[in-house]
Formats: sequence, structure tokens, C-alpha cells
Amino acid sequence: MDTVLTVKSVLADLFLLAIGLGVLAIAVMFVVDVTQTKHAVRRNYPVVGRFRYFFEHLGEFFRQYFFAQDREELPFNRAERAWVYRAAKGVDTTVAFGSTRDLRPPGTPIFVNCAFPTLEEDAAPTATTTVGPGCRHPFHTDRLFNISAMSYGAISKPAVVALSNGAKQAGIWLNTGEGGLSPYHLQGGCDLIFQIGTAKYGVRDQHGRLSDERLSDIASHEQVRMFEIKLSQGAKPGKGGILPGAKVNKKIAAIRGIPIGQDSISPNRHPDINSPADLLDMIDHIRTLTGRPVGFKAVIGAWGWLEELFQEVHRRGIDSAPDFLTIDSADGGTGAAPQSLIDFMGMPIRESLPMTVDLLDAYKLRPRIRVIASGKLINPGAVALALCAGADFVNSARGFMFSLGCIQALQCNKNTCPTGITTHNRRLQRGLDPEDKAERVYRYAMTMHKEVGVIAHSCGVAEPRQLRRHHVRVVNDRGSSTPLDEFYPYQKPRPQIA
Ligand SMILES: Cc1cc2nc3c(=O)[nH]c(=O)nc-3n(C[C@H](O)[C@H](O)[C@H](O)COP(=O)(O)O)c2cc1C
Ligand code: SF4
Repeated sequence: MDTVLTVKSVLADLFLLAIGLGVLAIAVMFVVDVTQTKHAVRRNYPVVGRFRYFFEHLGEFFRQYFFAQDREELPFNRAERAWVYRAAKGVDTTVAFGSTRDLRPPGTPIFVNCAFPTLEEDAAPTATTTVGPGCRHPFHTDRLFNISAMSYGAISKPAVVALSNGAKQAGIWLNTGEGGLSPYHLQGGCDLIFQIGTAKYGVRDQHGRLSDERLSDIASHEQVRMFEIKLSQGAKPGKGGILPGAKVNKKIAAIRGIPIGQDSISPNRHPDINSPADLLDMIDHIRTLTGRPVGFKAVIGAWGWLEELFQEVHRRGIDSAPDFLTIDSADGGTGAAPQSLIDFMGMPIRESLPMTVDLLDAYKLRPRIRVIASGKLINPGAVALALCAGADFVNSARGFMFSLGCIQALQCNKNTCPTGITTHNRRLQRGLDPEDKAERVYRYAMTMHKEVGVIAHSCGVAEPRQLRRHHVRVVNDRGSSTPLDEFYPYQKPRPQIA
């Protein structure tokens, strides 16, 4: 009895103490709020004004889970994400009753089904494509859908490990991103594209210039199959970056080739590439040294330089051409970028891809240079559409992030990613089991290949690489639709090269 009374009195004391502390905290907040001068709302409405920030934060989640319709959200709506989640989990990707996609808005693409679709027995495996046929080590692959650049640093160790293992199982490539080659990229044994960013992390000398010695070291890894010079990415063209010294630990310093603990600045472009001619020189240098195919990545805004580049290729000879171009969309993803660049810069892929392909055609370079497209191409329809427009391959970053469990919480720049993908917080990383997620990466890639095939067969061709522009129509502003091959006006003959 006595014990019960004692427990009760302790609990009562604790309760009073909690209330007292609560009142004290409110009083402190009240004084802080009325005396501070930075926030008008908190000064005018002390204490309660603080809830505004809390609700603003919660609002993101409430909108996503309760209020947004299936096709409403950006960057990716629930229908798009749900397909990736189902594909990655290996569960049924069919849906019931009818489509929730509105087929009426101008710009909507529609595939042209064939009256006599390809019979299963007539379907063919995806043709093998060669990148850099003239290189000492050309790259051959029959895969269409691969993992786009995301550096170790922007994404966590378990995320890179899962991608590397999943890519190996699926036979697809993983692009290292501009942060250098980490042991985690190599761990799964997949094919890798080594990306050379403006700071040349991983292949730089102490002054930030390209180091032939380090480049040869990277090329000595058989897994590194190609090199990609990053001119720009869709989310932040013309923007470099600072890696704060606090993040430059021993491991990152060794991988990137920078001093420990010091801020590292990425220039906003390659200081040694000032023109299309310089770009070709750099491509030639890296290709000669490494023997691997070399291409570049850019988001297209101004495009006259592409014409200059292609003319210069003709002057130097077809062997001087880049082996591939990666065209990124203005609405591509990033770990962090200024909103002014994310929202306003560059052309979306639906315009830049057919335009670039037509330019290549006009200069008769299409058979020589492979085209990789990226930017919100995370579902089979979007991938098939890019193939119709002329892409040889599609890359995705955020599609594979969804397969790793990303819930589009949009906190990639805050080190608080709740799914462990873009955080270096060990506690949060614990949620990401690399083994389970590698399996999901694999299944997502394989289901994508399969369903792009389903679209191709419905269009009456034997495999996805046979998709052409006439297999798509685009809803026009009269409410009817126009074939994609008539929709883009870029197919103009080019002048003779002097
Ligand atoms: C977290 C994150 C990190 C990225 N890091 C790089 C990078 O290092 N280099 C690069 O060229 N692009 C980078 N990107 C851009 C992607 O490679 C890709 O071009 C873009 O997100 C479009 O593809 P998506 O719509 O499938 O994400 C990054 C994107 C994300 C989301
Ligand atoms: S869950 Fe959120 S923070 Fe993590 S990767 Fe996805 S969008 Fe970024």
C-alpha cells in the first residue's frame, strides 16, 4: 500500500515538474519572441507564431499523403512513383478499371498501336549497341536503362553499395557522378562510367588540373568502361559548388584527391574547356590515354555550339567525335541547387532530345555518336518515348532512388533523408539495407526493360530499339494529335562544312 502511495506521489511530483518546466519554457519563448526583431509574426504573436513553421513543414507530408491526387504532384506524382515501387518490389504492376492519365492536354504523347502487334514468339531480344567502336576498349551492351550520375557524397555509402550490386545483377551501368570513384562503386562489380566534373575529383593534380597519372589509375580498373566529361547537369547549369571542409574527411579526401578538412570549390565550368575545339581536344586526350569511349553530358540551352562542334568533328575527321552525348533535362534532379537554376535554366528533354538527334542526323553523325537521355524518365512510357525520339539509352537517377525507397521527402540537401539515401547520418543510414535494396534496383531495371518491350510489341516492332518517331503522336492545341515525326521542326539540311 505504502509503495503504491509513494509511486503515486512521485508521479504527481513529476507531473507538476513537467507542467512547471512547460510553463517556464513558454515564458522563455514569449520573452525571446517579443524581444527579437527578425521575425515579424513571432514578435506580433509570441509563442503561437512558432507553430507556423511547424505546420508549414508538416504541410508537405499532409499534401503528399492525404490531399494530392494520383497525377498531381511534382516532381513525380504518386502514379509515377507507385509504378517504380511496385516494379522494385517485384509485385504486380497492373492497375484496374481504367487510366487516371488525362489524354487531353496539348503535348500529351500517345503511342501508335499496331493492328497486328508483335506475337510473343516473334519478339526479339534488345539489340546490342557498341559505344566507341574505334576505341581500344569499345563498350558493348544490350541494356537500355541505366543508372545516372550520383556521386558518393551526394548519396550515402549503403545507397552506392546497393546501386552497384543491383546494377551488376541487372547488367546495367552505374555512373559514378562527379565525386570520384569510391570502393563502394566498385563493390558490386558492375560496369561503371567515370564522370569527370569541373573539379576533376578523383583525376586531379594538386592544382585541380587533369592528372594523367590519376586518370590512368582510374582506367586501370576494368570495371570503368567509359568516361563522361560533365559540362552541365539539368538542375544547375553554370553552377559549381563548395564541399565544406567539415565534410572532407580522410576517405572523401582520398577519393576526390583534395586536402583533408579544407573547403573544396568546384568551378562553374571546366576552366580548360573554352570552346567546342577544346572539348574535342580533351575527349581525344582522355580517349587516347585510357583507350575507353569518352563522351560528355550537358543540358541544352543555347545550341549553336553543338553545330560548331559537329562542324569541327568533320574538319578533324569522324574519329575525333565524342563517342556519346548525355542530354540531361532542365527538370533533372540534384542533391542541392539554387532554385533560380532548378526552376528556370535549360530546355526540357522532350525538346532538346529530338533537336539534338536531328542535328546529329543533319551532320551525318548519328551512326557514330550514341545518345543517352535523362530527366524524369522513370516509367516505361517515358523511356519508350525517349527511344522513339532517338535516344540509344536512357539514364535515371531519381527512378533508382525510388527503387532504393526514396519517398520524395525533398530533404536531400539537409542530411536528414528519412530513407538513408542522401544522408551521412549513420542512424538514418541504418534503415537502408544494401542487400535488400540491391534486389529492388535489379527488379526495377528488369521490369523496366520488360515493359518497354511490351510497348514496343504493341507498336508492332520486335524490340524497343526499333521504336521510331512515327510510333508516337502528340496531342496538339486543336485537341487532335500529330505524329511525332511532324511535330518537331528541326530536320533541316545543314550547309557544307568549309
Ligand atoms: C542526389 C543526386 C545527385 C546527383 N549528382 C550528379 C552528379 O554528380 N553529376 C551529374 O552529372 N548529375 C548528377 N545528378 C543528376 C542526375 O544524374 C540526372 O542527370 C538527373 O537527375 C535527371 O535524371 P532523373 O530525372 O532520373 O533524376 C544528380 C541527381 C541527384 C538526384
Ligand atoms: S527520401 Fe527525401 S531526402 Fe531522401 S532521397 Fe528521397 S527526396 Fe531526398
